[in-house]
Amino acid sequence: MLSATFLDQFIQKGIDLIYATEAADLFKLINRYERLKSYLGFTDDTALQQDIDRTIHHPNERLSFYHKIDSFVKVDKRHRVRGAKALHYRLNRLYERTPILLAENDRIKKAIAELPQDYLEIVESTLFSDHFLPLRTFWHHQDISTFTHVLDVSLRAYKVAKRLKLDYFAAAHGGLLHDYYKYDWHLEDVRLTDDRKIPFFDLHFFIHGPLAAENVSEDFPHLVGPDPDCVIRNIISSHIPIIALLFWKYPRQVRCHQSWEARVVSLCDMASSFGIFKNPLKNIGINFQGPIARDFLKSK
Ligand SMILES: [Fe+2]
Ligand SMILES: [Fe+2]
Repeated sequence: MLSATFLDQFIQKGIDLIYATEAADLFKLINRYERLKSYLGFTDDTALQQDIDRTIHHPNERLSFYHKIDSFVKVDKRHRVRGAKALHYRLNRLYERTPILLAENDRIKKAIAELPQDYLEIVESTLFSDHFLPLRTFWHHQDISTFTHVLDVSLRAYKVAKRLKLDYFAAAHGGLLHDYYKYDWHLEDVRLTDDRKIPFFDLHFFIHGPLAAENVSEDFPHLVGPDPDCVIRNIISSHIPIIALLFWKYPRQVRCHQSWEARVVSLCDMASSFGIFKNPLKNIGINFQGPIARDFLKSK
């Protein structure tokens, strides 16, 4: 049984990490774009870092900092300055990410407190490990973090696998780790790249399964060994987003063998992600009018 103090500490660790991740991503974004950096008046990185750290915790300062960047980028965008469109897109996504992730605190706490004891015993060491916590900082779909999504998939898969007398240990862990990629794809993996063009089939959508399997074998080697027949590895690297089946040329995943446990996890993944269809444009990452623009218009 998890104590209330343990849960509170776990949630607080997540909150701290969410703020730290936003600060780091904003720093990275500004640094990528020299003109913006000099516009903001920062010659050295330490001053920029300090300013970001200070503003990020204060809603008003945070908003005006983003607005300042936003107005500059809009001018660049109008003049078709290289990279301005991509920067603007990422900035909007980054700005809306933190409130979305912070809004999850109570939901996550309640979900963890209500987990069945038998399931919790199986996944406890993975779920509360320091490697796993960063999934709270990535925005998945439908205004939830990757952490919430994978926990949901894992619990569903565990229940189904147990009922079907399959390997439920593998299904629970496979579900938990099937989206174990360490970046926010809204920021890193858009077709609007400033300095490189990502080939279509190298997009996050297609490659994140095998990528997650690699990450898991590095961070959780006791779960995924080098053995190619390992069920957990098979679950992770072969999980298929259903829309991918529409493409005639789908690399690797479709062609690889799927165990029954992997099929269960893929189905649970789809069931869990179903909300994506409610608002597809927003969820697949196309945002025609970003939140900064919306806030700005509202304040007028
Ligand atoms: Fe996935
Ligand atoms: Fe998923």
